[in-house]
Amino acid sequence: MHTHDLELVNVRKVYPGGTVAVHGFDLKVEKGEFVSFVGPSGCGKTTTLRMIAGLEDITSGDLLIRDRNFTRVPAEQRPTATIFQNYAIFPHMTVRQNIAFGLEVRRVAPREIRRRVDAIIGKLDLGAVADAKERGLSGGQKQRVALARGLVTEPDILLLDEPLGALDANLRKSIQEELKLLQRELGVTFIFVTHAQSEALSMGDRVVVMNAGRVEQISDPFTLYTRPRTPFVARFIGRNKIIEGELAEAGPARAVVRTRFGALSGAPGFDAGTAAPGAQAMVVAPSEYVEVLPQGAAPEHGETEGVSGVVTALDAVGHVAYVSVRLDDALSVRLETYREKIEGRGVGPGAQVDLRWRPDRATVVLAAA
Ligand SMILES: Nc1ncnc2c1ncn2[C@@H]1O[C@H](COP(=O)(O)OP(=O)(O)O)[C@@H](O)[C@H]1O
Ligand SMILES: [Mg+2]
Repeated sequence: MHTHDLELVNVRKVYPGGTVAVHGFDLKVEKGEFVSFVGPSGCGKTTTLRMIAGLEDITSGDLLIRDRNFTRVPAEQRPTATIFQNYAIFPHMTVRQNIAFGLEVRRVAPREIRRRVDAIIGKLDLGAVADAKERGLSGGQKQRVALARGLVTEPDILLLDEPLGALDANLRKSIQEELKLLQRELGVTFIFVTHAQSEALSMGDRVVVMNAGRVEQISDPFTLYTRPRTPFVARFIGRNKIIEGELAEAGPARAVVRTRFGALSGAPGFDAGTAAPGAQAMVVAPSEYVEVLPQGAAPEHGETEGVSGVVTALDAVGHVAYVSVRLDDALSVRLETYREKIEGRGVGPGAQVDLRWRPDRATVVLAAA
């Protein structure tokens, strides 16, 4: 029995021109896991996916699939299938022919091809368009044809490179759900690339955040959202309030940062013993945990920490209110709260307010992490 479906060990990619696209990627993926890769354009997502697929040489490091080393194995001999953003459906072939194509290339027996194609057409509900060509398909149907083409080869790992990028927002949402259900049902390992954090977080069992060719953090979505470990993740994922300063002390459960607004603390987002007092650090509090209070009002929760500022704008949309607060010349923040929580409490433009949160909800992140 193999230990992991996929293992990347210090995988690195330098393009012939000298661009280091991927700096040393380490990842272990369990069978049946749905892993999202997310990061800004150019961070190395597609390059990594193409190295897994065998469409791009691996400069150094190792790629293992089910414990077997595939680093130098050509693409067509790898148990992977790839789905690209543009779907690459052959326009002159029917849906059925498109789905069968990959099996024909692999010289699978015609009867077996028919059996497998029929099964996947049934599973993906493509029966009504089996004889249609690409121009007769809706966006959602094209997406399912692309999936069917990948899945019909029965890959151990399905690689998807921004497969929903071409769809409009509503369709995208419903296909996200469909895709996730299908993945659960099939139990096939998915590696799903996207530049949209909401998509990465809603789809992935785990999310790999990449930036400039490096892995910043690999976590389940909730941990990623609430416990960033690097400044990049703190800014890229979620809606965090970030206050910079210097590390004053770091214990196993609590670290304290000296900021220009006073001492603030949080759970350390770094390993014990890796940071010395004086190191550049930041306190990161997810907006969802920050309360806006009229100055001096008692917070809902017992032990809180926070900062004070002046309201510069207040916008209400339905029952939600957006409050902009200026902390000092260099830092303003915008917070979302419920209208009922601030209405009639003197939280208008010009008012002094306190922003408070439980210190155990905040994370202390090292600037050099
Ligand atoms: N074929 C190539 N030759 C040289 N550089 C490339 C090639 N493909 C991508 N790159 C560079 O590698 C980096 C990572 O690109 P890519 O993997 O496409 O990022 P992403 O998919 O995250 O947008 C970028 O700097 C990009 O310009
Ligand atoms: Mg890409």
